[in-house]
Amino acid sequence: MTNWSKSSWRAKPRIQMPDYPDQAALNAVEAQLARYPLLVFAGEARRLKKNLAAAGRGEAFLLQGGDCAESFEQFSSDAIRDTFKVMLQMAIVLTHGAKVPVIKLGRMAGQFAKPRSAPTEVVDGVELPSYRGDIINELDFTAESRIPNPEKMLRAYTQAAATLNLIRAFSTGGYADVHQVHGWTLGFTDNEKTEKYREIANRISDTLDFMAAAGVTAETAHTLQSVEFYTSHEALLLEYEEALCRQDSQTGKWLAGSGHMIWIGDRTRQPDGAHVEFAKGVQNPIGLKCGPTMTSEDLKKLMATLNPDNEEGRLTLIARFGAGSVGEHLPRLIKTVQEEGANVVWTCDAMHGNTIKSSTGYKTRPFDSVLREVREFFAVHGAEGTVPGGVHFEMTGQDVTECTGGVRAVSDEDLSDRYHTACDPRLNASQSLELAFLVAEELSARRESQSEKASA
Ligand code: PEP
Ligand code: CO
Repeated sequence: MTNWSKSSWRAKPRIQMPDYPDQAALNAVEAQLARYPLLVFAGEARRLKKNLAAAGRGEAFLLQGGDCAESFEQFSSDAIRDTFKVMLQMAIVLTHGAKVPVIKLGRMAGQFAKPRSAPTEVVDGVELPSYRGDIINELDFTAESRIPNPEKMLRAYTQAAATLNLIRAFSTGGYADVHQVHGWTLGFTDNEKTEKYREIANRISDTLDFMAAAGVTAETAHTLQSVEFYTSHEALLLEYEEALCRQDSQTGKWLAGSGHMIWIGDRTRQPDGAHVEFAKGVQNPIGLKCGPTMTSEDLKKLMATLNPDNEEGRLTLIARFGAGSVGEHLPRLIKTVQEEGANVVWTCDAMHGNTIKSSTGYKTRPFDSVLREVREFFAVHGAEGTVPGGVHFEMTGQDVTECTGGVRAVSDEDLSDRYHTACDPRLNASQSLELAFLVAEELSARRESQSEKASA
């Protein structure tokens, strides 16, 4: 790649990034981070890419989920464990529907920096700079809290490292052993979906008993005892990303060492901008948010820039149009992808196009809109004969009240009970599981219609 370096983004127009008032402090933090160990390794990113390539062909399915914004204050091992558990549960349900492996990709261990719709925020006539995520400034509404502080990058790194350490232990230390399938339920999610989950879990246990009786080899059993779990975040704060970008000694290729997949947000995807410049030179799988303003022209340029070799699994297009708008935008972008003969993985972010203000003043997302967007996504792919490769949710294992609806219906009035998100509203554990069942229905309907077509 000509003229790319891990710092070549610095010569490009940048938006949604802070202006640090203390340049010397920023330089010192960058130098320190650049000596720290990488959080993820090249072989892992390559494995994820291989799995995503399968998702692009319909031979796997991507489940990407986690916080909108990770927070310093709410960091706890219980919160990580519970989100991990719900994702494993959702993955079991989706695997059951899709009959293909489900790729588990957390919005975790690095999802700290947030793009904002306005640079400042006004409360009771007082105007202050917007909160941009715990890696940059603080949520408290005071002038001092909103000053960008580079030291926060060190704390974010430490939290990400501790999060990954726990995830790695859970993934391989017996916790994610499929024999524990009954243990992943959470106490407070009791409802008919939990019952349905138990039925699937019983069937899995029976199958495992049968396999044990039939003398399944130690080697096969080993793969059942661990899970592959990957991390992802929006690569928004490029000083942080650059400091953790290193050259892979084996291949000479560059790696964003901050997470397995990084994505480019819907606000920072300018083909000639800083964020695209950084992402194009690293070998990680890249996500690209595609909202209603994405033009065919831009998508063509972005695909050519981000995946010049048309490598499978390299580029995931994360569609986020909003319920009711998928039919207007997805077909035209699918057509663009087809005209270019581009390999992409199509996934559906059913959150970011469905944010509304509730009657009680909270930013929320109705469960029904989230579900409707997913259904529209599947319907368009069904009609176009293309592959719906995955789903993307803002969710938590905690019992929060941030999105309305679901079987244990959360009302506008309930939102104030446990509204903890530092940014956008997340699905709670029971809403997440419920959604997994509904997505699984879409996946099995698709599978049935394909086998009918194949046998016709
Ligand atoms: C996000 O994923 O949290 C986000 C800000 O998304 P988008 O860039 O699609 O608005
Ligand atoms: Co968000």
